[in-house]
Amino acid sequence: MSAPGWPAVLTDGAVLLRPYERRDAVAWSEVRCANRAWLAPWESTPPIPWEQANSPSAYRYVYRDQRRAARSGEGLPFAVCLLGDDGRHRLVGHVNLSNIVRRAFCSAFAGYWVDHRVAGRGVIPTALALAVDHAFGPGGLHRIEVNIRPENTPSRRVMEKLGFREEAYHPRYLHIDGGWRDHVGYALTVEDVLDEGGLLARWHRVRAAAA
Ligand SMILES: CC(C)(COP(=O)(O)OP(=O)(O)OC[C@H]1O[C@@H](n2cnc3c(N)ncnc32)[C@H](O)[C@@H]1OP(=O)(O)O)[C@@H](O)C(=O)NCCC(=O)NCCS
Repeated sequence: MSAPGWPAVLTDGAVLLRPYERRDAVAWSEVRCANRAWLAPWESTPPIPWEQANSPSAYRYVYRDQRRAARSGEGLPFAVCLLGDDGRHRLVGHVNLSNIVRRAFCSAFAGYWVDHRVAGRGVIPTALALAVDHAFGPGGLHRIEVNIRPENTPSRRVMEKLGFREEAYHPRYLHIDGGWRDHVGYALTVEDVLDEGGLLARWHRVRAAAA
């Protein structure tokens, strides 16, 4: 039996979300290692050195865990790809809806990152909006939560631009970059975007208004 909303390929303009594939090992490791300084302040502390945790051989375990979570309905893990001038999609980031709890909660936590070489182009707002709309539709979810370190201005800007609600402050919430870090909690429920035709439609309007 397949899990609600999985597998899926989602696309908007040059941004494409798809399940990870076994053959992503080298591309994944390259982008993760090229972004160590960019990602480490915002990610959970790795139990082993960064290069080791992000090597092509470590990808085997990342891939296996994500596939298991997706198949069991506990996660919606997407590789974020961007269409290049050569007409090919390149892996540039990640959006994951994890820790899905169904029944009376129907909620997930969203996590995301993008390669610093393509930051500032709206790739993650687009990718997150695609994933959230998919989760609210075929995925059968009702609520998406995002927790962000207060000093992570770029990520908080993503929340502001997409209109997530700031709901909470969590002291010493997650072990990130070597210590227990406070986080600001944001959330969105399906009712928040229903009248607007979804989160992607809202994001398109926000972008158009800012252009
Ligand atoms: C947070 C993050 C995912 C945003 O992705 P993105 O696709 O660049 O998102 P946007 O293009 O909407 O840019 C968001 C903000 O980043 C900032 N930004 C833009 N270009 C940037 C750059 N080259 N370097 C740093 N910050 C930049 C701007 O403040 C921008 O907001 P603005 O639209 O008001 O100018 C990305 O910065 C990232 O991967 N950061 C490291 C990992 C991380 O923080 N993950 C989230 C943990 S909660």
